[in-house]
Amino acid sequence: MTPRPLPYGRQCIEEDDVQAVTDALRGDWLTQGPGVARFEEALAERCGAPYAVAVASGTAALHLSSMVAGVDTQNGGITSAMTFVASANGIRYSGGVAALADIDPDTAIVTAPTLSVAADELQKQGIRARVLVPVDYAGAVADLPAIADLARRLGARVIEDAAHSLGATYRHEGEVYRAGSCTHSDFAILSFHPVKHLTTIEGGAILTRDEGAYRQLLELRSHGITRDPARMSKNDGPWYQEQTAMGYHYRLGDVPCALGLSQLKKLDRFLSRRRALAARYDAGLGDAALRATLEPLPVRHGVSSAYHLYVLRTRARPGEGLSALADRRRALYHRLLAAEIYTQVHYVPVHHHPVHHDAPRGGSLSAAEHHYSRCLSLPLYPDMRDEDVDRVLEVLAEAGAS
Ligand SMILES: Cc1ncc(COP(=O)(O)O)c(C=O)c1O
Repeated sequence: MTPRPLPYGRQCIEEDDVQAVTDALRGDWLTQGPGVARFEEALAERCGAPYAVAVASGTAALHLSSMVAGVDTQNGGITSAMTFVASANGIRYSGGVAALADIDPDTAIVTAPTLSVAADELQKQGIRARVLVPVDYAGAVADLPAIADLARRLGARVIEDAAHSLGATYRHEGEVYRAGSCTHSDFAILSFHPVKHLTTIEGGAILTRDEGAYRQLLELRSHGITRDPARMSKNDGPWYQEQTAMGYHYRLGDVPCALGLSQLKKLDRFLSRRRALAARYDAGLGDAALRATLEPLPVRHGVSSAYHLYVLRTRARPGEGLSALADRRRALYHRLLAAEIYTQVHYVPVHHHPVHHDAPRGGSLSAAEHHYSRCLSLPLYPDMRDEDVDRVLEVLAEAGAS
């Protein structure tokens, strides 16, 4: 029997999800019905933030939260050099300059000190950082309390890019907090792309504790139009509405929200499966021969990762340079591909993309470069079987031996 192909990530759609979508399709609303608010309330409750706004994508969530945080053509923001370009684009769409911070070499996540170096660089260019956008890379939460302290000193706001970390927790001064709770951030954004923890096909959300920002976000996701008589210049009748801000068509409809709500009910099961599979990888990679050449990405102490990704890195041999390390990662990628194991490299650093070549940088971004040269995301998704993990480990062991 030929083994089944293993993608690095995939959705988990079950019969009850199909039923939820079918019911929504048969209902009165396809777009702006009551299912949107139901999904938003459930999301807010799950994350522990009072307000959630569902939008068309995680990218739309980054754009609108940057706008509401005050990013414009007179300022800028800072995100990780090791992320999907959307984290930087949200700042750019709002007119600001997107600067890039280096990552902690162990966890591949930005820290308060690396963000601070990037803020100094921005300042040298006469640009004030209006937002800090830490990315919870692979599913582990950034050091948000320290980043919130830095933001206070800079007069900036924090947007937690929690696209990878729905369901993760972190410990601070003896308390446990949830990713997306906005306890140590002003906003958090989620993505519901199919490879994420739950899907609405495409979709995203913004979480916040700020009621004023919440009301602004509701309008901005729907063209900037209001029906609130108190906010309109006149009232011409029951049909009357006014566009009072330059908003966008970033709504998420009733049908995708029905799918999201159905998926959200299963989030705990999806998370525990992801964690069990990650533990199986960890155990397999503990083998002495594998450990000599490969190392899993460590998770910061006190964090329970939501394991959006399982990231492996090739381990440098004594005296080995970056390009030899990158060659070994390339060989491993192709070796796995030949066995129909579709890994991915997360990420091409943001500054490698031509559109971001000129981004102000916090130093040489050497940790991001080093990570890029040796990282590989192994298959990880709730439907994956234990024997699939064992198959990946076997191919890794053969590759190490050859
Ligand atoms: C870290 C990060 N931020 C933002 C996004 C954007 O999310 P979306 O694809 O829903 O626009 C992604 C998507 O992959 C992501 O990985």
